[in-house]
Amino acid sequence: MEVIVAKSAGFCFGVKRAVDSVYSEIENSEKTIYTYGPIIHNEQVVKDLENKGVRVINEKKEIEAVDKGTVIIRSHGVSKEICDMIDEQNLRIVDATCPFVKKIHNIVREESEKGKKIVIIGNDNHPEVEGIKGWVFGDAIVINSDTDIEKLERFKDLSLCIVSQTTFNYKKFKYLVEIIDKKGYDINVVNTICNATHVRQVEAKEIASRVDAMIVIGGKSSSNTQKLYDICKNECDNTYYIQTVKDLNLCNVESLKSIGITAGASTPKNIIEEVVLNVRDEF
Ligand code: F3S
Repeated sequence: MEVIVAKSAGFCFGVKRAVDSVYSEIENSEKTIYTYGPIIHNEQVVKDLENKGVRVINEKKEIEAVDKGTVIIRSHGVSKEICDMIDEQNLRIVDATCPFVKKIHNIVREESEKGKKIVIIGNDNHPEVEGIKGWVFGDAIVINSDTDIEKLERFKDLSLCIVSQTTFNYKKFKYLVEIIDKKGYDINVVNTICNATHVRQVEAKEIASRVDAMIVIGGKSSSNTQKLYDICKNECDNTYYIQTVKDLNLCNVESLKSIGITAGASTPKNIIEEVVLNVRDEF
């Protein structure tokens, strides 16, 4: 049987970099290690880190209670205020903010200092957007739908600098920018969407379209894994959504000539490898 594993399965570059930096600190540092927020939305990884002594700081007021150690900033990034608070406590910072997110921090800081009004197209409560807002000089406006565009009325006379949350849907971003443009605002648009999610989805779709069964690995509550599953299911009726190798239970195995495997953005490599090995060995 042919087993095709998607090259883009699992962690994107930024998440891998952040997770690797925690493990590298565990190996090389004697200090207590904290992450600001869980490093990744994956129970197994967070549990493993907890067992290795890594603690999670969940909100900014908890920083004041920490007086020594290393704080690792996850790929989503954080506001300048949080970086400063960590600094003031004399804690060591390991900044694992994804470079694509860091680039947005730099754009919004520079452009807002020049007097532009910053518009972020994204979800207001997402930690990445919270972090971006925290690098703006003054306030930013967050837009997620066409009704939100009304929030811009007050700034008719200002130049707008529009950026996007990295994981925002490109079609929706383009649609919202077009409306803002048609309304006659003076805009400077920087498309800061990261294509890692898109690449993963396109590859999953392509593989699912040519295999007899498709396996999608990821956490139950992972929305990007659910999306991957939907895309694959559309191409291949015989698609399975599993969390780990324990859930693997393929039907009519004798008739399968090819199996495709992909995984959501927060699925660690070892979980993917276990499934691949199992499929190769058993079937
Ligand atoms: Fe991942 Fe960084 Fe893109 S965290 S989704 S590579 S912006």
